[in-house]
Amino acid sequence: MSDSFLIDNIGSLVTNDPALGEGILGLVEDAALVVEDGLVTWAGPRSRIPEGAARERFDAGGRAVVPGFVDSHAHLVFAGDRTREFEARMSGRPYTAGGIRTTVAATRAATDDELRANVRRLVDEALRSGTTTVECKSGYGLTVEDEARSLRLAGERTDEVTYLGAHVVPPEYAEKPDAYVDLVRGEMLDACAPHARWIDVFCDRGAFDGDQTRAILAAGKERGLVPRVHAGQLGPGPGVAIAVELGAASADHVTHLSDADVEALASSETVATLLPGAEFSTRSPYPDARRLLDAGATVALAADCNPGSSYTTNIPFCIALAVRDMNMTPAEAVWAATMGGARALRRTDVGRLSPGARADVVLLDAPSPVHLSYRPGVPLVAQVWQNGTPRLP
Ligand code: NIG
Ligand code: FE
Repeated sequence: MSDSFLIDNIGSLVTNDPALGEGILGLVEDAALVVEDGLVTWAGPRSRIPEGAARERFDAGGRAVVPGFVDSHAHLVFAGDRTREFEARMSGRPYTAGGIRTTVAATRAATDDELRANVRRLVDEALRSGTTTVECKSGYGLTVEDEARSLRLAGERTDEVTYLGAHVVPPEYAEKPDAYVDLVRGEMLDACAPHARWIDVFCDRGAFDGDQTRAILAAGKERGLVPRVHAGQLGPGPGVAIAVELGAASADHVTHLSDADVEALASSETVATLLPGAEFSTRSPYPDARRLLDAGATVALAADCNPGSSYTTNIPFCIALAVRDMNMTPAEAVWAATMGGARALRRTDVGRLSPGARADVVLLDAPSPVHLSYRPGVPLVAQVWQNGTPRLP
């Protein structure tokens, strides 16, 4: 017997399928959704609910329903705290890549269970604000053992695991960075590749340069990992060009972009992933999403949860920032945090609510998805279903 239910009386349903509804969000008003065995089997207007579609009925009470958020950029395997660094920044000190080393020391000293508990805490926290798919990077271990362990622990909570041995050069290699690059693309890659789907490099001032980035990503590709790149967060650089050249799934941050970078992204499959939590928490100028969208690039929004530059898991907060400060429309921002994230992770089963999709469903305490940006800071998530299972008490 199939496990089926109907979410009925939806005021406004985001399907992200323009064939089903209005605009890029495929918006259907006065809608319903049928879920069977964890998948969406039907979405559309209430007037056309298929006969005998489901045994159980959930009344959405005229509220809005959106796909679960797909957070394609997160650093959740870490220990320690950087409150003081944040406080100093808010008194005028600039953010630098070097702060990562504070977290590396704490992470190396932590037990598996401590790290596991941190990942669980943050994945659960993200779920409460509507995130049903989250990517997770290593990058705070930076030894062969600590990177492999970070990936194993991340893999206990998500399939979207990213090897980021090239986050910064750790202190013990400060005088011989090229030897560290060799380790990252050699022995460390050998230990990490079996536990990851993706490979990432922080290509920026104070981290890795263009030649190092290209060498590491190429080695990862040879081992079957698909590249994604931290590019242009702290200043202009070659990260975006390398990402596009190597067919990366995404170039992330992209705060500093040349016209050639915008053009390269627009004419490629590489998604531009914007992380406004980082600009917020480092008090930096926001990227201009309009410039990317108008050029035709695919834009994703992610939270970049990490203890240094963006200690938030809250995608609605990022949507609000993207609308207010990055020139996105409310609809574009919701699309970027759902379908955009799915594109950045090359997933077709999430980020939409149309037949065949995973039933990752978020019910908002609001009549419209626009409220995600119209009501900043308000916890609007009333219920989350993951694979068709209700997850909030
Ligand atoms: O995405 N930019 C590199 N990595 C993180 C920051 C890490 C940290 O400061 O601990 C980011 O912003
Ligand atoms: Fe990051």
